[in-house]
Amino acid sequence: MTKLLNGNQVAMKIRKEISNEIVKKIVNKKQRVPHLGIILVGENHSSRIYVNSKIQECKKIGMQSTLIHLHKNIEEKKILEIINNMNNNPMIDGFIIQLPIEKHLNQEKIISSINPKKDVDGFHPENFGKISLKNTKSFFPATALGIITLLERNNINIHGKHTVIIGRSRIVGLPTSLLMSRKATFGNSTVTIAHSYTKDLSFYTKHADIIIIAVGIPNFLKGKMIKKGVILVDVGINNIHNSKKLLGDIDFDSVNGIASYISPVPGGVGPMTRVMLLKNTLHAALHYRIK
Ligand code: GUN
Repeated sequence: MTKLLNGNQVAMKIRKEISNEIVKKIVNKKQRVPHLGIILVGENHSSRIYVNSKIQECKKIGMQSTLIHLHKNIEEKKILEIINNMNNNPMIDGFIIQLPIEKHLNQEKIISSINPKKDVDGFHPENFGKISLKNTKSFFPATALGIITLLERNNINIHGKHTVIIGRSRIVGLPTSLLMSRKATFGNSTVTIAHSYTKDLSFYTKHADIIIIAVGIPNFLKGKMIKKGVILVDVGINNIHNSKKLLGDIDFDSVNGIASYISPVPGGVGPMTRVMLLKNTLHAALHYRIK
């Protein structure tokens, strides 16, 4: 029987840990609660849903959040000004820019203008580079951190295991590959990154002990592509015809009974990602707050 990697359950536990830490290290010392800023550009339907859920997460554990919602035609210069204000605002501990952003905006320039000490998404080149080093003080991108924490808290051993990651995005595939293969207590996995140019994908997936998939194609990974006992992590969130139904990148029915574990969609990686953003924001408040 395939067991579920229940992200809701693990996230709830971590939420409690964060909330206890906020009380002990911040509220009891009469300091203000951590404050997350969110910049949203335009009207992307999925982005609005993600941003709303991030705001709700903050509320749940008593963190403050501020949303700055900008028009889709906003000039790059104006966004850089807003970022500069957030960088210098002592009342904001960390902030993110919800991706993707509109095509006329230079994403690299915008992300690079965030103060690395407030970059709670961990996307700034300085933080991104530190993922591969043994640096535990910087911010790790929330989805990557959520995935390895979900595996760790389910006592899944990744050491020496062959992990195949399908997708090499900045948000998921690339940072997850670095965290999984790091020389660290929870790391040392042998990682293969597959992507849209990979030939004979099934060759790799059939030899994988762990598969992490983030391609945005519903039901892409099928039972015939995997070996018995594999651990599956589904990062896909595919909204079918803008309905409320969410589908993952894994064809759940066809892998059921073959895989040993699978993270469901919804309720797997999603809640872990949201709670890791809170963890990064707490980290910013504890270590980098301008006093
Ligand atoms: N879009 C999808 N996932 C993410 C994320 O983790 N952070 C940001 N900023 N945008 C996203």
